[in-house]
Amino acid sequence: MSRTVYVNGEYVAEEDAKISIFDRAFLMADGVYEVTSVIDQKICEFDGHMARLHRSLSELKMKPACADDELLAIHRELVERNDLDNGMIYLQITRGSAGDRDFVWPGDDVPSSIVLFTQDKDLVNAPTAKTGLKVISIEDQRWARRDIKTVQLLFPSMAKMEAKAQGKDDAWLTEDGLVNEGTSNNAYIVKDGAIITRHLSNDILHGITRASVLRYAKEAQMKVEERSFSIAEAQGADEAFCTAASAFVTPVVEIDGEAVGDGTPGPVATRLREIYIEESRKAAI
Ligand code: PDD
Repeated sequence: MSRTVYVNGEYVAEEDAKISIFDRAFLMADGVYEVTSVIDQKICEFDGHMARLHRSLSELKMKPACADDELLAIHRELVERNDLDNGMIYLQITRGSAGDRDFVWPGDDVPSSIVLFTQDKDLVNAPTAKTGLKVISIEDQRWARRDIKTVQLLFPSMAKMEAKAQGKDDAWLTEDGLVNEGTSNNAYIVKDGAIITRHLSNDILHGITRASVLRYAKEAQMKVEERSFSIAEAQGADEAFCTAASAFVTPVVEIDGEAVGDGTPGPVATRLREIYIEESRKAAI
């Protein structure tokens, strides 16, 4: 069935949606995005996603396409028009179209482009919560501002396709021998009860799910260490997992062919997933 999507002020059938071939995101990946999860027709972590969106826009000196309350209304309207019970809403804002290709942007008079669409997926009952993910490590070759959520996703998608070609689920991106993050998620290990995840910097995306999961972990008196770790340390850990709006908390059970722990989802990841879903369900708007 055709979805109703939102493009530059209008709700249209997906097959009728149009964006200029001169749009800067099409020509230069000059755009930012957010992916927000939906549980039981409600939007999760909206304020967090908006705060990061504004940061991404301001780092790229890009205008917001509309106010946050309008964006919330559009999210809700799309949920309703598409009968979306569970899944995700993708939001993209680009610098817009200046009607030609030029490296130099003509300036502030050009309106930004905005696109939103829904993705129907039962994230709560995802089979990977029970099976866990198998990941490979790949040297991180993305640009140096991974804290900005841009649509420049060529390297992460190639890394994920390489993982799939090897019969695995995802790739953890490494730099100087240490794990930055997954292709579209933040990466964690658990050792002797401590949850270890890379500290924030320009080298990784500051996950909205990450911030909430670490808060819930601390509230549950779990020990949290924000520091880098190597693939060898991860392979020797008791557990591993990843977080994202599209994955909540998902266990990782194998890294570069080595089982993590006993090779099945561990108790810490399983408990954090339960807490995250429970709290998100309560706070969703
Ligand atoms: N990706 N790291 C990267 C590189 C990501 O692309 C994402 C999210 C995350 C987790 O961020 P959050 O918890 O805010 O979703 C970390 C989204 C889901 C995507 O590209 O589909």
